[in-house]
Amino acid sequence: MPAHRRAAHYPMATPQPPRLTSNPLLCVSDLSVRFGGIVALDGISFSVQAGQICGVIGPNGAGKTTLFNCLSRLYTPHAGTIVFDGQDLLAKPQHAIAACGIGRTFQNVALFPAMTVRENVMVGRHCRTATGYIANAMRLPSVGREEAQVRQRTDRLLELLALSRIADTPVRNLSFGTRKRVEMARALVADPKILLLDEPAAGLNHEEVDGLRELILDVRERFHVTVLLVEHHLNLVMRVSDQVVAMNFGRKIADGSPAQVQADKEVVRAYLGTEETA
Ligand SMILES: Nc1ncnc2c1ncn2[C@@H]1O[C@H](COP(=O)(O)OP(=O)(O)O)[C@@H](O)[C@H]1O
Ligand SMILES: [Mg+2]
Repeated sequence: MPAHRRAAHYPMATPQPPRLTSNPLLCVSDLSVRFGGIVALDGISFSVQAGQICGVIGPNGAGKTTLFNCLSRLYTPHAGTIVFDGQDLLAKPQHAIAACGIGRTFQNVALFPAMTVRENVMVGRHCRTATGYIANAMRLPSVGREEAQVRQRTDRLLELLALSRIADTPVRNLSFGTRKRVEMARALVADPKILLLDEPAAGLNHEEVDGLRELILDVRERFHVTVLLVEHHLNLVMRVSDQVVAMNFGRKIADGSPAQVQADKEVVRAYLGTEETA
């Protein structure tokens, strides 16, 4: 059994009352992004209910990472709207995104290579700390208390993600797959409502992919997060997702249950002759 399954009850997630509304947590409508002559997103619309794991698939260049970059406000779309948790996300500045409840990992990993695993994860909590610049400069007692809490939360998360043993190792010494897990811990330490995972299975072997599937399910349960999962590994997507959105050339070509999307003619066509890593 993987170490993250053995971890004791994890008290970080506060139990949430059941949602009484059927409004989706995330609603993307008619989103379009162009880079010069390239249309990266061409009127994409879909929605995700709270608590769901939604897989996003599509061949290379389909626009999946661009979609994530819009959701984390790195890109501003030319047209369309994103409503997240009842708020107009495009009205928010990029620095407010983590505090809104959006956590993400990057396709190519964006960590501080010289810093340790623990330090990298603790950085993810800064958007949530309450003490200000002056209190920090004066080292007021509230700063010390807050830092101790962040450290405690971080260490519990490292345990859950089986990273405790390498907590003091600089990130640059780790394999790509392990760095992806560190990024997931960094996103989770900020207590997101939605977790955006960009190709978390890249660089993992078969056994590790199975472990990742369990980890994603476990994280959803423990943290009550909704998950948006961009992944090339179709076998993982189909076995972990409640809903799958398929894209090609910036457009949505199918949206439904894994079985529906897998059987969709346009999806089969989009994948025919392209690399299939499942
Ligand atoms: N910053 C950028 N500048 C120019 N073109 C880009 C940029 N980001 C993505 N693209 C282009 O947009 C399209 C979609 O890319 P991307 O979202 O990375 O696809 P995916 O993640 O599905 O492989 C591709 O044609 C890509 O070359
Ligand atoms: Mg991508």
